[in-house]
Amino acid sequence: MTAALDILITKAEQSKLKDLNLENLPFGKFFTDHMLEADYENGEWKNIEIKPYQPLLLSPSVAALHYGQAIFEGVKAYKDSNGDAYIFRPIDNFKRFNISAERMQMPAVPEELFMEGMRLLVELDKNWIPSKPDHSLYIRPFMFSSDELIGVRPSDTYKFMIILSPTGPYYSAPMRIYVEENYVRAVPGGVGYAKAAGNYGAAMYATAEAKKKGYDQVLWTDAFEHKYVQECGTMNVFFIIGNTAITPSLELGTILNGVTRQSTITMLQEMGFTVEERRLNIDDIIDAYKANTLYEVFGTGTAATISMIKELRYKDFVMEFDVDNWKTAPTIKKWLTDIREGNREDKYNWMQKV
Ligand code: COI
Repeated sequence: MTAALDILITKAEQSKLKDLNLENLPFGKFFTDHMLEADYENGEWKNIEIKPYQPLLLSPSVAALHYGQAIFEGVKAYKDSNGDAYIFRPIDNFKRFNISAERMQMPAVPEELFMEGMRLLVELDKNWIPSKPDHSLYIRPFMFSSDELIGVRPSDTYKFMIILSPTGPYYSAPMRIYVEENYVRAVPGGVGYAKAAGNYGAAMYATAEAKKKGYDQVLWTDAFEHKYVQECGTMNVFFIIGNTAITPSLELGTILNGVTRQSTITMLQEMGFTVEERRLNIDDIIDAYKANTLYEVFGTGTAATISMIKELRYKDFVMEFDVDNWKTAPTIKKWLTDIREGNREDKYNWMQKV
């Protein structure tokens, strides 16, 4: 970061915090006192402001509402036992944000705007960081096209914003998962690796169908054979088979390069596992289950952190797991929590002090 960020800060007259109990919060329902907003016009970012959280006034013709040029990130801030605030690996989210922007033909957001803007916003609202276990301040940077034009073309103008939500666990209990064979999330050459808003909207129908059958989420499979596993709901997915941890590889561009995925790979290696990032066929998963070598299956994500999967259904074959006796996923969850709360050495420098 070179020059100081040229930013106008207007503080809220009163904090809404006194009306909120920071215990047992649902995910993503409450928002803090302030937000960051910036506009992209004529090839540059301007009007950079932190101001009281408030609605946007938008024309009905705003391009993002019609053609979905919209991307986002999920980041989390925590407080240690001294009350100091830290953000978990924000630089990795920054890099991924601009990878998503490029894929969606949107302008890059400068590092200083993303990183320093986020830091200033979290600093201003740091009293909103919950200290209860499994709680955090969820940071949502996002960008959308803002041209008032319904012609189909990349917008000339964009809005970049950051909002903050004090939040509890995303999935509170171990999950039942349905292996999806009809609908697809991502194809090679598509936008699966980007955190594009439309990826999430496009997943809702299949997820609703799985919910009707009594499942919490789907395990996405490849678009051609419906055999190779991709992601689980909004999470990356890991399988512990024998002494090996396997997670789908990124090279086909169908998998989101999750920050919690990367952290989990590092923790698994620290625990002595061989980690394989590769294509994984559902038939191999079933064979391992039948041979009693499929020990654990879990999802990873910023919102979800580590979520254990207690049941996996493929066609009529049901795999059930005794999650209460697992060692690996709970250990990773604990180590990550301990690093985030300052109770375990941050040897990879993941925590950025606010
Ligand atoms: C995250 O883990 O931050 C996500 O993006 C999931 C979400 C859409 C809530």
